[in-house]
Amino acid sequence: MFFNGFLDFSNFLSLFFFNGWSFLETSSTCHGINSQIIWISTLNSSTMVARTVDLRSDTVTKPTETMRAAMATAEVDDDVLGADPTAFRLESEVAKITGKEAGLFVSSGTMGNLISVLVHCDIRGSEVILGDNSHIHIYENGGISTIGGVHPRPVKNNEDGTMDIDSIEVAIRDPRGELVFPTTKLICLENSHANSGGRCLSAEYTDRVGELAKKNGLKLHIDGARIFNASVALGVPVQRLVQAADSVSVCLSKGLGAPVGSVIVGSKSFITKARRLRKTLGGGMRQVGFICAAAFVALKENVEKLDGDHKKAKELAEGLTQIKGLKVDVAAVETNIIYVDIVEGSKITAEKLYKNLEEHGVLVMPKGLSRMRIVLHHQISSSDVHYTLSCFQQAFTGMRQEIGSYSISTSRDVSYA
Ligand SMILES: *Cc1c(COP(=O)(O)O)cnc(C)c1O
Ligand SMILES: *[C@@H]1O[C@H](CO)[C@@H](O)[C@H](O)[C@H]1NC(C)=O
Ligand SMILES: *[C@@H]1O[C@H](CO)[C@@H](O)[C@H](O)[C@H]1NC(C)=O
Repeated sequence: MFFNGFLDFSNFLSLFFFNGWSFLETSSTCHGINSQIIWISTLNSSTMVARTVDLRSDTVTKPTETMRAAMATAEVDDDVLGADPTAFRLESEVAKITGKEAGLFVSSGTMGNLISVLVHCDIRGSEVILGDNSHIHIYENGGISTIGGVHPRPVKNNEDGTMDIDSIEVAIRDPRGELVFPTTKLICLENSHANSGGRCLSAEYTDRVGELAKKNGLKLHIDGARIFNASVALGVPVQRLVQAADSVSVCLSKGLGAPVGSVIVGSKSFITKARRLRKTLGGGMRQVGFICAAAFVALKENVEKLDGDHKKAKELAEGLTQIKGLKVDVAAVETNIIYVDIVEGSKITAEKLYKNLEEHGVLVMPKGLSRMRIVLHHQISSSDVHYTLSCFQQAFTGMRQEIGSYSISTSRDVSYA
C-alpha cells in the first residue's frame, strides 16, 4: 500500500472509520485510497483529477517556501535546557500578541489544552466547566480525565458557541458541599468555536465569563485554536479578546498554516508549571527551533490572509446554498468554516457526492450522515472556490458512471481538527 500525494495518513484513518472498511478492503486496488490512482490512470484526461482542492480542514496546509527557508537557517539549541533562541522568540511574540506575560511552545492544541487544564486543576477532585460541544470535551480523548484526573462538567453550548452565563453559574459547585462535590476550579471557553461552525465569542461575553470566574475564585482558560480568526472576523485585537483569560492555547498549525505546533500563554508562574507538565507528557523537545521558525513565519505572514479566507468562505457558502439539494446557514459563516447539509430527498446520497467530489480532487470532511464540513485556508484560491462550486454543481446535475464497487456501511463522525 502506498499513499498518493492527495491523502495523508489521517485521512486514511478517517476514510477507514467512516466507511467501515477493513484493512483487507483498503489494500485492494478497487477501493478507497488506491481507487483515486486507478481513476487517474484509466479516465480520459479531460475528466481525471486535474487539481486538488483540500477543504477538509485548515490543518492541511503545506509549509511555504519562506517557512522552509526559515527552518533551514534557524538558530537552534537544546530547548529542554531552556536555550533555544528561536523557540523563545516565538513564545515571546505570541505572549506579546495575546497580552500575557509568557508563552510556551507545545506540540499540539490538544497538548496545550491538557497542560493548561492540569495546571489550573492542581488538586485532586478538581472539576472544569466546559461546553458540551467543545473540542476539549469531544475531541481530546478525555485526556483531562484519563491523564489529569480532572472531572468535566459540561454545560450546553448554544449554536453560537457560547454557554449561557446563568447555566455556567449554576454549574459552579457550592464549596459547602465539598463532602460530596468535586471542586470547581476552571471554566473553559473556545474562540472561535469549531463545532459551531467557527462562530466567534465577543470580548464582552468573554469578560462576563471572566467576571463570574473571578467572583468564584475560578480560572478561565480559552481554547484559542483559532483565536486569530475570531480576532480578524470581529475586528478586535487578540489581546482584547483574551483579556479576561488566565491562559490561552493558540494553534499555529490551523489557519495560520504552520506545519506543527501551538503556543500556550499565561502568567510567568503558569508557564513555569506548564513547562514542567510539558516535560512530564513527553513534550520537551530539544532543537525545537526548527519548527518554531516555520511557525514564526506563519504568524508574521498569514494573519493578514485570514480575512481573505473568510470572504472566500462566505462566497463559497453563498454559492453552495444556491445549489438545489444543499443547504447552508450562510449567516452563521463568520470565519473560515462552513457546514453544509444535504437536504432530505436530494437525488444524491452523501456517499455518492463525496465520491464524486473526490474524483475531481475536491476533499471535504463528512460530519455525520448528511452533513459535511468545509474549511478554507490560505492555500485555497478564488479559482479553487469557483472550481469547487462547479464540481458540486455537476455532481447534482449529472453523475458520472462509477468505476468499481463502492459500498459504505457506516458513516461515523471521526473528524478532529
Ligand atoms: C484543532 C483544535 C484543537 C486541537 O489542536 P491539535 O493541534 O489538533 O491537537 C483544539 N481546539 C480546537 C477548537 C481545535 O479546533
Ligand atoms: C478524451 O478527451 C478529449 C478532450 O479532452 C477528447 O477529444 C477525446 O475524444 C476523449 N477520449 C475519450 C476516449 O473519451
Ligand atoms: C482562520 O484564518 C486562517 C488564516 O487565513 C484561514 O486560513 C482559516 O481558514 C481561518 N479559519 C477559520 C476557521 O476561520
